[in-house]
This record gives sequence, structure tokens and C-alpha cells, in this order.
Amino acid sequence: MTCFGIIGGGLMGHGIAVALAQAGHQVGVFDIDPAVLTSLSDRVGQALTRIGVPPEHACEVRDLIVPIGSLPDLARRSEIVVEAVSERLAVKHDVLAALESDIAPDTPIWTNTSVLSISKVAHAMAHPQRLVGVHWWNPPYLIPLVEIAPGAASDANVVKHAYDLITSLGKTTVLLHRDVPGFIGNRLQFALVREALYLLDEGVCEPETIDTVVRASLGLRWATVGPMENADYIGLDLTRAILSNLAHDLSTQTNSFPTLDQLLEQARTGRPTGSGLLAWPDGRGDEVA
Ligand code: NAI
Repeated sequence: MTCFGIIGGGLMGHGIAVALAQAGHQVGVFDIDPAVLTSLSDRVGQALTRIGVPPEHACEVRDLIVPIGSLPDLARRSEIVVEAVSERLAVKHDVLAALESDIAPDTPIWTNTSVLSISKVAHAMAHPQRLVGVHWWNPPYLIPLVEIAPGAASDANVVKHAYDLITSLGKTTVLLHRDVPGFIGNRLQFALVREALYLLDEGVCEPETIDTVVRASLGLRWATVGPMENADYIGLDLTRAILSNLAHDLSTQTNSFPTLDQLLEQARTGRPTGSGLLAWPDGRGDEVA
């Protein structure tokens, strides 16, 4: 049993707490927003209900997760610290600087950044060797994959320890050879999202059509056959020909997304606002897709 401290008790922080506590680990959670800590126990309870944990076991798991009122208190009691604050480099730098003054130089820190370079997150740290990217997927207690992403300065033992501990939770753990923004999963995911938005901007189809295409083809196929395996099925000669034919038509370098920007200007940010690329007539949605 390890005593974890999670900084940031939002969507990911509370979900990571559930995944760790389910395996018997103790978890303290600190958040700068007191309301997040007040609601922590209820959100943990909802997660456990959602995944069908029996009430008697749910109580045990819930008891392992405690809100902590200050960063120094969290630092004092933690053997491993998980950073799950907002995805802004400056915020992460501030949190890590404050944290490092309160913990031993060899206490590992796992950052859950979605796409930031681990070396950049570690840039201002006194002991960057203790930082490793441990990228969970939402919801962390349901999605199997966790990516372990070393930065340029990450200590090999810190990386291995993270890999082994995450694997011991029953997760599907993958280790990247080197630091790359977006890791593997988000680079693949957002390549698809970027191309989908480009097709919308080009007037090729409606947003619903893109979802239909993915659900009725790629989504089904990729549940059992990964894109590398599939390329071998297609044949690498045909794969090469397709890539050559598409090379000048894909949106690979664009950072122009007019449809998306127009929706953002109208504060239509997606399901939580009741409107986004699709219409959500029932208004606010569940936090777990
Ligand atoms: P969130 O907004 O739900 O939670 C972030 C929490 O950090 C908030 O509760 C906020 O009050 C807290 N926070 C902000 N500054 C703080 C500070 N200085 N000290 C302590 N707490 C502070 O965001 P979410 O979605 O949980 O994301 C957290 C991290 O996980 C981000 O880096 C995000 O990119 C990453 N991530 C998010 C995924 C997702 O699907 N939402 C998936 C995988 C990673």
C-alpha cells in the first residue's frame, strides 16, 4: 500500500483517486478550490456506483480517499504525488515549485498532463529527475490505458516504478521511448479530430455523419485490430499508395479551425453548455462520456 497525494481534485484527480483506492492505496487530495474538496466524497461515491462497486466495498474505497486542506499537508503525507491541475504550463510550474519545497528530493511526482512535453513541465524544477508523465484516460477507473512518458531528465528508476505500480492496478500500461507532446494516444486522437474539423470546414458533411462513419467502421475495427496491424492487413504496398495519394490533401499542418472558433465565440463549448458541434437539447451532460 502506497500513500498517494493528488493535487487537483477535478475530473481526472477524483477519477485517479478512485482507481488507486480501488487497489487499496491511500489517497489524499488537495485542490485550490475548496468547493472541489467539499464535493469530493460525493463524486467518488457516484463513480463507484457507476462502475457497480457493491456498497460495502464502496465504503472501504471511499474511506481511503481524504480531502487535504493545504499543499504542505499533502506533501508531508505523500510517498508519490500526482499532479492533476489545469492544463496550463504556468499553473503546473507554480504548483511543482511550491510542492518541491515541501517534499524530499526523491519523492516521485507523476504529471497527468494531456499533451504538454514532460521536459517542459519539468523545466523549472529543482529535481526534474523525479518527474514522469503518467497519462490516464477519462474516466481513469474505466479506461484501461495509462501512458508512461519519461521526460529528458526522468530517472529510469522513477519511470520503472511508475510503470510497475500502474501495471499492478491491472491497467494496460505503455512506455514511451522519449518525450513527445501529446504522447501516443492524444496524437492519434487529435489527428482524427483535426481531420474531422477540416472536413466540416470544407463542407464535406455534417458533424453527425463523421460520428456515424467512425462508429460504423473505424471504431469497430480498432477495438480489435490496431492501425499497425490493420496496415499489414491492407498490405503495405496499398498503404503506401494511399498515403501518397492523400499526402497533399490532408490537414496535417493546419491550425485554422473556423467552425470550431465560431462555436467558441458563441460560447457553445459542447455538452456542458447544451450546445457544441452537435445539439444537446437536454442541456448539461454527464461528466463521463
Ligand atoms: P479539471 O478542471 O476538472 O480539474 C483541475 C483541477 O485543478 C481543478 O479542480 C482546479 O481547481 C485545480 N487547480 C487549478 N490550479 C490549482 C492549484 N494551483 N493548486 C491546486 N489545484 C489547482 O481538469 P481535468 O480534466 O481534471 O484535467 C486535469 C489535468 O489532467 C490536465 O492537465 C488535463 O490536461 C489532464 N487530463 C485530462 C483529461 C480529460 O479527459 N479531462 C484526460 C487526461 C488528462
